[in-house]
Amino acid sequence: KGLRIGMIAGDGIGRVVLPAAQRVLQNVPGIPTPTFVNLDAGFEHFQKTGVALPPATVQTLKNECTAAMFGAVSSPSHKVAGYSSPIVALRKEMDLYANVRPVKSVQGTEGRDVDMTIVRENTECLYIKQETIEDTPQGKVARATRQISERASTRIGRMSFEIALAAAEVKKQRGGNYGWQGPPTVTIVHKSNVLSITDGLFRESVRAVAGDYPGVVVEEQIVDSLVYRLFREPEKLSVLCCPNLYGDIVSDGGAALVGSLGLVPSVNVGDNFIMGEPVHGSAPDIADRVPSIANPIASIRSAALMLEFMGYVEPAAKIYDAVDDAIRKGFVTPDLGGKMSTDEVTEEILRNL
Ligand code: NAI
Ligand code: MG
Repeated sequence: KGLRIGMIAGDGIGRVVLPAAQRVLQNVPGIPTPTFVNLDAGFEHFQKTGVALPPATVQTLKNECTAAMFGAVSSPSHKVAGYSSPIVALRKEMDLYANVRPVKSVQGTEGRDVDMTIVRENTECLYIKQETIEDTPQGKVARATRQISERASTRIGRMSFEIALAAAEVKKQRGGNYGWQGPPTVTIVHKSNVLSITDGLFRESVRAVAGDYPGVVVEEQIVDSLVYRLFREPEKLSVLCCPNLYGDIVSDGGAALVGSLGLVPSVNVGDNFIMGEPVHGSAPDIADRVPSIANPIASIRSAALMLEFMGYVEPAAKIYDAVDDAIRKGFVTPDLGGKMSTDEVTEEILRNL
């Protein structure tokens, strides 16, 4: 297969930031020359064809691709008959059970000293989307089923411990005197004081595998007080192991700490496949701007993270450094207070490579 990467740009700024990531992947030294295949998915594709995630996209990913990059898709907040979010479906189809979201500030810039990784369970919780609504004499009542399984919680726990160990190792090798300085630490995020059965199972399942990682300190925190800590003392947080919904919410909060959603990457990880994906959405408020002012960094860092999880640690580090240099030199888009366009930022990152 070589390095064949499925590119699912999706909607809105996904169409702008994914090509930026592609340019970086084409120019980073130290990896086999990648080839790319553009694949359809998203709301606009649904409006044209009635299908949000074409089976051909999934088949091509499974049969031809070594990895993938996903841009963003729009999902209306109201129910649209026949439409459901392709990213949620794709994570399930490809069994990408963990969403790993490093939130790091750049040394030498203003702002909080943050260096944490949110590890979000990706397949269950409320996102199984089993919702019902019924008319009752007192009015409508809607219900949602929340699924937490021992299997999914255990594997997300293991992933969190592995990441804590890997992060500590990288820190040792690359130095850096910002953000989390303590021993490898995993904080289990839950609400088992109220949801003692579902969150209770999550918490116990993660704790049950902690014994296999004696080098990692295990903490836990109720999700609401975790959010408080996130804003009060983010420099004291390291790896956060979260059920799906809490992980989704906490990571946008984390993005605010480092300045913009346009900075925060993620990678969807399964046992057999990796898919990079910026944390942000399709940003309809800026999607039509010409020239584009969408920040390409989240997407470019997601490409690096994808490489890192495929074992290309050095090439990934080169991309992170090229991005940090660009930010330090002031090559930033308006979301970070700058005046640069998507292309100007991307080209500076390419020069730094
Ligand atoms: P959003 O992340 O698209 O935008 C939130 C705010 O951040 C906006 O003001 C936007 O301009 C800004 N922003 C986001 N990314 C940026 C970037 N790279 N550069 C500069 N500014 C950036 O979230 P929102 O507005 O809640 O959702 C918009 C659409 O995106 C919705 O249809 C939603 O369903 C979808 N969405 C899709 C996701 C995905 O595909 N994984 C994730 C989140 C939302
Ligand atoms: Mg989200």
